[in-house]
Amino acid sequence: KGVITIDPGYKNTGSCESAITFLDGEQGILRYRGYSIEELAAKADFLEVAYLLIFGELPTKEQSEKFHNDIKAQAVVDEDVKKILDAFPKSAHPMGVIASLTSALTAFNPSSVNVDSEEDMYKSVVKILGKFPVLVAWTFRKKEGMPLDYGDNSLGYVENILKMMFKKPNGEYTQNRILVDALDKLLILHADHEQNCSTSTVRIVGSSHAGLFASLSAGISALWGPLHGGANQAVLEMLEGIKADGGDTKKYMAKAKDKNDPFRLMGFGHRVYKNFDPRARIIKKAADDVLGDLGVEDPILDIAKGLEKEALEDSYFVDRKLYPNVDFYSGIIYRAMGIPTDMFTVMFALGRLPGWIAQWREMRLRKEPIGRPRQVYTGATERKFVSIDER
Ligand code: CMC
Repeated sequence: KGVITIDPGYKNTGSCESAITFLDGEQGILRYRGYSIEELAAKADFLEVAYLLIFGELPTKEQSEKFHNDIKAQAVVDEDVKKILDAFPKSAHPMGVIASLTSALTAFNPSSVNVDSEEDMYKSVVKILGKFPVLVAWTFRKKEGMPLDYGDNSLGYVENILKMMFKKPNGEYTQNRILVDALDKLLILHADHEQNCSTSTVRIVGSSHAGLFASLSAGISALWGPLHGGANQAVLEMLEGIKADGGDTKKYMAKAKDKNDPFRLMGFGHRVYKNFDPRARIIKKAADDVLGDLGVEDPILDIAKGLEKEALEDSYFVDRKLYPNVDFYSGIIYRAMGIPTDMFTVMFALGRLPGWIAQWREMRLRKEPIGRPRQVYTGATERKFVSIDER
């Protein structure tokens, strides 16, 4: 018993100890298990980073091969999952579809809930890392009206994701190294970000000992919102809106600063970073490189750069330490890859998957208690019941 303090939004409340991701928002530093995000984005591949986040160390060649083989062995889903997918209207938002399918996986893999030993836990982890990209690809293909199929397990993890998504119905597919490398980098940059909204959701749902897939499904739903992962879709829609409006960035800057206008500059600001989001720096350069390498000229990129320049010189944004975040430029790269806007947040989920898994695993291994915040009650004091005809 004691005084309950409330901290709406948990702005200054830690929920756990964690050895996974270090973030210094004042200095703009992000490290996974001690390795800087800059170095990982430049030198590692996504599956190595997934292993690092989940198990704490970079894998040796043998560990890496075994991990990938175990994942490949699980890169199949029950045929009946297609029936669930079929029941969704084509207009369904892919985030709702993917959250539902992820939760439904528990029904097809009931043993995935048993995580009493580290070995059982490992089985659930490789299962979801194998099956999730299939669900992502199928969600995309269903929307595009393409037949559902599997990719090619002889390819790398990220290469195979792109092939599963874009292989034509007649089997044609040309691999593009620029796109594979760009997606690898994007997924690494999204792979973990300590106790953000979706990760906290995964940990708190998992703390009731709900299974991994159910916990991840809850995390996907949390990520969907435009203040979190959904910002990448919202940024592109905003930039397209500005373009359609004649490219008048000043008008949108004024709207963002107007306290009577709910409009916010999407892709700007962060709960923890009060400096440049280091991921945004890397993504901005990647957007330039990818568009350059592909020979794509996208006027949206110029609008984004113009908006960023104006915001960084504007006292409203400077005083509040609002900088571009990870979502500001990522959509421009996804768009150059041919990924439709409403799939952007699903791509974020694909990247965040190892982080969610690592955080869930850490929570279970540390035997953390069930998450159960308290409240300060502000409702009516005790009242006598009044029967319906006397009200
Ligand atoms: N445009 C205009 N004003 C803003 C913005 C923005 N994007 N972000 C924050 N502010 C203002 C806000 O109005 C407030 O002003 P004042 O002090 O005068 O009331 C001040 O800055 C502090 O904002 P806050 O809402 O108290 O900050 P928060 O830590 O609760 O919210 C945030 C953080 C990310 C939700 C918010 O900055 C935001 O809504 N940004 C736009 C959405 C976005 O890009 N989200 C992606 C976040 S990064 C990736 C991820 O999490 O998935």
